[in-house]
Amino acid sequence: MKIYLRLLQYIKPYMPRLVLAVICIIFASAANLYVPWILKDVIDEVLTQKDMVKLNTIAAGIIAIYFLRGIFFYGQTYLMSFIGQRVVIDIREGIYRHMQRLELAYYEKRKTGTLMSYITNDVAALQGALIDSLIEMVTEGMILIGSVAAMFYLDWKLSLLTFITMPLIAHTMKIFGKKMRSASATLQERTADITSVLQESISAERVIKSFVREDFEIDRFNRQNFSNFRAQMRTAQLTATLTPMIEFLAAIGVTVIIWLGGREVIEGQLTAGALIAFLIYAVNISNPVKRLSRVYSNIQKALAAADRIFAVLDTKPEIKDAPDAIALPSIKGHVTFDKVGFAYKEGEPVLQNVDIDAAPGQMVAIVGPSGAGKTTIANLIPRFYDVTEGCIAIDGFDIRTVTIASLREQIGIVPQETVLFNGTVYDNILYGDLNASEEQVIAAAKAGNAHKFIIDMPEGYQTQIGERGSKLSGGQRQRIAIARAILKNPQVLILDEATSALDTESEQLVQEALDKLMIGRTSFVIAHRLSTVQRADMILVMEKGRIAERGTHEELLEQGGLYSKLHQVQFKSND
Ligand SMILES: Nc1ncnc2c1ncn2[C@@H]1O[C@H](COP(=O)(O)OP(=O)(O)OP(=O)(O)O)[C@@H](O)[C@H]1O
Ligand SMILES: [Mg+2]
Repeated sequence: MKIYLRLLQYIKPYMPRLVLAVICIIFASAANLYVPWILKDVIDEVLTQKDMVKLNTIAAGIIAIYFLRGIFFYGQTYLMSFIGQRVVIDIREGIYRHMQRLELAYYEKRKTGTLMSYITNDVAALQGALIDSLIEMVTEGMILIGSVAAMFYLDWKLSLLTFITMPLIAHTMKIFGKKMRSASATLQERTADITSVLQESISAERVIKSFVREDFEIDRFNRQNFSNFRAQMRTAQLTATLTPMIEFLAAIGVTVIIWLGGREVIEGQLTAGALIAFLIYAVNISNPVKRLSRVYSNIQKALAAADRIFAVLDTKPEIKDAPDAIALPSIKGHVTFDKVGFAYKEGEPVLQNVDIDAAPGQMVAIVGPSGAGKTTIANLIPRFYDVTEGCIAIDGFDIRTVTIASLREQIGIVPQETVLFNGTVYDNILYGDLNASEEQVIAAAKAGNAHKFIIDMPEGYQTQIGERGSKLSGGQRQRIAIARAILKNPQVLILDEATSALDTESEQLVQEALDKLMIGRTSFVIAHRLSTVQRADMILVMEKGRIAERGTHEELLEQGGLYSKLHQVQFKSND
């Protein structure tokens, strides 16, 4: 019921259209109701009294009724589709919009395929329920009510006897409805599982091939495919049982009518025309009952889908603007970490007691072994995650007290794993500042040392780079990502292994570009190759989530600790 009311909220804006649609449906189905009544007149008056004039009137009447019915049918279908599709668009937009607001951790906890299935499969299930089921429900409901009313008018005693079978049908439907609902929930989950497996394996095709794991993946897919089959069969089985059961009950009802009604006609209590009309009405209601039971199961499916959709909509973003958040004013770039602690999962601290004080314009390098927490530090500055202890401030503003948008607008990130969008080179750089001019885009590409290889490509800046930039080399992707960050012109810059995919020569080129870029900006540079961080104003050496050493290159070498050891190893291998 709560789900219904919530869905109704979405229909509300289209109320006037809905009223009009329902009027159309009522008139269109009224035509169906009128025909048995006419038949009664034909038998009792025209045929028994041989009245030619009345026959003509009735014939003309039928043609007129069906003509009007066509017009109303058009109105009903058009309006209902309009409302249904609009509601679906609104819900789809709403769920996508909401998902965009949810923090990264939400996405990490869920499978991509499952998330995609909310917007595709679940919304589609709602669509079916809203358009087709609603039309059928109103039409068949009308026919049902109208037929029942006509039956009572014709012969109430016979009607009462007929409807003894009704509670039986209702009870059966209720039991099946419950089973159907749980079966279709399972089905939707299995379908989502297939999407998940597909999504993952298709995007990892290169890895699958390199490990020759095609058969392994086929097995994995088949398991999901088969459990989808089982779920499908379960719902099919339920439908297959429900339909004949209801039909059998209906047949019993018809037999009762023929037997009792026939007796009344023989005894002269009922006219032959009235019995025929009564029978047609009675058979008429078996149709709506059948269809309504189908609609009922569709609605159960839709409700299960709506349940999942609303669950997403009800997920509160954990990282959001504080109620009294202010816009972060244009910053100088003084970034401080005060005893910062952080854990992705409770009880498993990844950062402990991290203190950093980066003055505006300084270059802070973060080095250390893999898994030490370098990327994690970078993730905390734009609030991809919130610190679990301590505080991060920019220019004295605790970053949790300013709006996320105003914070992230002023931070540029070149991530460890470059992600580009399907589209042109130009559009990918423009992503950094949607209002930038063509000159600015090209200047950014030049600064990122990307301009040269871009204009060497056959279509230059208009080259399509493929899904996630798959048509470019790793180094080219990285340089475009750098150009994108340059275009954003942020005051705080985070470079996470920004040169890791480059050869020594292009690394030098990119390094030059980055050096220029870093002037006047506070930058956090994460690097494995120590050669890139020697000029840093401050080097932080991370070890197991703590800052083990800090200082300039020379100071750290003198200390003779972890940094100098790392340096020695790299220096030797360089030699
Ligand atoms: N999204 C996440 N959820 C849970 N744990 C995570 C997540 N990201 C990282 N971790 C864990 O946090 C720790 C620090 O990871 P982080 O990515 O900060 O390391 P890193 O120093 O950047 O390593 P690398 O040099 O390999 O990039 C690791 O133990 C890692 O397993
Ligand atoms: Mg990292």
